[in-house]
Amino acid sequence: MDQIKGLLMMFTAGTDTSAITMEMGMTQLIKNPWALNKVQEEVRRVVGDKGMVEESDLQYLPYLKQVIKETLRLHPPGPLLPARENMIGAKVNGYDIPAKTMIYVDVYSIGRDSKYWENPEVFWPERFENSSINFKGSNLELIPFGAGRRICPGVALAMANVELAFANILYRFNWRLPDGMTKEDVDLRTKPGITTPKLIPLVLVATPGFTK
Ligand code: HEM
Repeated sequence: MDQIKGLLMMFTAGTDTSAITMEMGMTQLIKNPWALNKVQEEVRRVVGDKGMVEESDLQYLPYLKQVIKETLRLHPPGPLLPARENMIGAKVNGYDIPAKTMIYVDVYSIGRDSKYWENPEVFWPERFENSSINFKGSNLELIPFGAGRRICPGVALAMANVELAFANILYRFNWRLPDGMTKEDVDLRTKPGITTPKLIPLVLVATPGFTK
């Protein structure tokens, strides 16, 4: 039973979070056509006429990785880390935190804090160009996977999955909004919850962009 429970935990922790990252990433790209063109150009140039993006291609797609990082900064699929309870009392930044306080880390607000990010509300993947900031827990201003001993154990798998799926849909298809809709109409609101999918699902029209 423990093994089954562990396996189910992997499914629940890994599916919604990865799907939200993809949907929010596509949402931002459709709202920022210059970034969509740039990432699509990169993928198609690097992969050439192979017909499919393979895992070994991902290391040559730096802009795609920047797009995903920027998506996770603005739209962490889990905006609050699971609650913690401190065992002993402490003083943090002048605040007394008595023992056994329930503490939430607000990943969403940290990712949009102007103390750490220039123009924090703007989708701008280039901010990560020539930057060593990563989401593996060593840069506390970017913690969509948490940090420390309870950091998401699925980071590497999540990134391989999301990057590969994302790269392939950008490679194979051209994307546009349905007729009559403009990028200003695309809504960024999310549903409340432990993970936060879009309130209004993204609907796009795909046409073949690469045929072999
Ligand atoms: C973009 C995708 C993902 C994001 C943003 C994400 C984010 C997170 C976050 C914020 C936590 C809580 C960390 C904490 O307690 O401080 C977590 C925990 C966890 N994640 Fe992920 N995750 C993703 C994908 C995955 C995948 C693909 C798997 C496994 C296949 C996975 C497995 C887990 C498990 C088992 C935990 C619980 C770890 C524990 O309590 O010690 N996650 N994840």
